[in-house]
Amino acid sequence: MLQTKPVYASFRSIGAYVPQKTLSNADLEKMVDTTDEWILKRTGIKERHIADEEEATSDMGAKAAELAIKRAGIDKEEIDLVLCATVTPDYFNMPSTACIISDKIGIKNVQAFDISAACSGFVYLLSVAKAFIESGMKKNVLLIGAEKFSSIVDYTDRSTCILFGDGAGAAVISATQNKEEAFIDIHASADGSYADFLVTPAPGSINPASQKVIDEGLNFVQMKGNETFKLAVKTLTKDVKEILKKNEVKAEHIPHFIPHQANYRIIKAVGDALKMREDQVVITVDKYGNTSAASIPMAINDIYESGRLQTGDLMLLDTFGGGLTWASALLPFAGETL
Ligand code: UT7
Repeated sequence: MLQTKPVYASFRSIGAYVPQKTLSNADLEKMVDTTDEWILKRTGIKERHIADEEEATSDMGAKAAELAIKRAGIDKEEIDLVLCATVTPDYFNMPSTACIISDKIGIKNVQAFDISAACSGFVYLLSVAKAFIESGMKKNVLLIGAEKFSSIVDYTDRSTCILFGDGAGAAVISATQNKEEAFIDIHASADGSYADFLVTPAPGSINPASQKVIDEGLNFVQMKGNETFKLAVKTLTKDVKEILKKNEVKAEHIPHFIPHQANYRIIKAVGDALKMREDQVVITVDKYGNTSAASIPMAINDIYESGRLQTGDLMLLDTFGGGLTWASALLPFAGETL
């Protein structure tokens, strides 16, 4: 019988796009009953970036994707699957944002689709890419996490409008036969019984577009902030402990712990529970706020562009979001250093 060498998924490249316009805490003080001091103390956020009115999720995703493809050192013709994670797609029903991004960057006749896993979207995509590559179906998968979260935020609701920002991140995941470059492990899970913790009630089959939807603001994100916070700390800590234990990796040996950037206090609580040193934990929530599915790839891009992320470095990703969904991943960066 013919013996074939196993194929693994490897993280080849990263790219991101951050819209130019910023929304500072001082700006928010003029919009809702809040203060810079409250926001900073409770969330660690100083500012977030907001897309222009005419800038769609796909525009941001396309820019991040082009950078990721360039940095992967491959031609776009070599991409054989395009996946986008977003809860703020260009169109709520169809076409998918992955199809629009593919067209914008000139990728033709390639399978493309979106997934909806809120803030966990990018790590969910890593698991999908891994399955496609390791089954031999695809060789170079383009992943995009992109959000125009400002399009579903009610800027009169102080409990949510201070948190979210816009942006996009992208990565190329490629087949390799070198085990050193392979993803080590991914855990992804969900519990729909907490669906009402983070929800955008409309438009959808329950609340199709109507005057009532507009009048009651059902098209905006609603969050049970405090309950989500507590569950996030508990779940993220447990998930990371499990993935480290299962793979016999000690927390102190992780150079880059890259958690979902929702709230500095959540990140600090999880980091402390894992006894992580400050230099291990990647923080970008201060400048981008919570960018949902774009949060993790934007954070990876930050450490890549600052020269902190080196070829072969181990990354521990950990995320939590609407659904509820959560996921963690342990993988080396297999790309070229900038
Ligand atoms: O990405 C997906 C996962 N998302 C998350 O993990 C987000 C999780 N949640 C959070 O980050 C935090 O719960 C928030 C930052 C949203 C809120 O912080 P908190 O410490 O949980 O505050 P709270 O909701 O318990 O509210 C405390 C007080 C309330 O006033 P009273 O009832 O004590 O008088 C709120 O009305 O803070 C008030 N408040 C604010 N005050 C000033 C809520 N938002 C604001 C605000 N400015 N922006």
